[in-house]
Amino acid sequence: MKKLKNWDNKTWLSSKSYISQFNRFLKKKINLDKNSKILDIGCGRANIISALQKKYKFRNKPIGIDIVANKDVKKNIVFKKIGALKYLKKKEKYDLILIKQTIHFFSKSNLNHLLNLAKKSLNNKGKILIFSLKTNNNKIPCFEKMRKNLEKSLKRDEVLFKIIKKNLKEISYTNFNFKVNISKQKYLRMIKERYISCLLNMSNKEIKFGISEIKSKYKDQIKFTDTLKCISYRK
Ligand SMILES: C[S@@+](CC[C@H](N)C(=O)[O-])C[C@H]1O[C@@H](n2cnc3c(N)ncnc32)[C@H](O)[C@@H]1O
Repeated sequence: MKKLKNWDNKTWLSSKSYISQFNRFLKKKINLDKNSKILDIGCGRANIISALQKKYKFRNKPIGIDIVANKDVKKNIVFKKIGALKYLKKKEKYDLILIKQTIHFFSKSNLNHLLNLAKKSLNNKGKILIFSLKTNNNKIPCFEKMRKNLEKSLKRDEVLFKIIKKNLKEISYTNFNFKVNISKQKYLRMIKERYISCLLNMSNKEIKFGISEIKSKYKDQIKFTDTLKCISYRK
């Protein structure tokens, strides 16, 4: 698969209100203080852990890892360009391992591998929080071919959820909802920049075609709820 670079490049996923609502949600899931150690797997531009660092001023800066090093990755965290499986072999311990919208990049066997390593990398009472798009009735605005790809990927996610349940056993589920209100023009730019993985392997022609479909299908302002399933595991 091609690399994902524009996911959080000035989109609602990097907006102040998204990050603050997301981190308020995190606060309900885990008690953090300045001694907490955090690892964000597939951190992108590291907006989430950067905001946490500003708030909690952790003694150990949160670590964000990703296979893509974006040039505008946040500076107040420790970023490492490395794959998760390789990094987790270092056997450092964390209080929170965050895996947000990243599991779909893993094969089934590598996901098991990732979870086994993540479990071993938790401090006592540490938590793994996995976030992934909700799979039924997903509201992400799509053109036809994009919807087809997304549905296929969400079907695969359901298989991954079963693997997670089998591996982690004692888990709890909640949803994180964010109300998106975005201009059609901005959303078209996001599609053009292939912000989501279901667009990565499309041809330029398919993207162009899709853009004209979105242009005619949606009003000037696009509103929908972006819902993530949160899977929580505690050691
Ligand atoms: C959809 S983005 C999510 C970014 C961020 N977690 C967020 O929610 O805003 C998924 C990220 O996972 C990264 N990724 C994919 N495979 C990875 C791996 N094996 N190890 C670390 N990061 C990976 C991608 O490069 C991408 O930045």
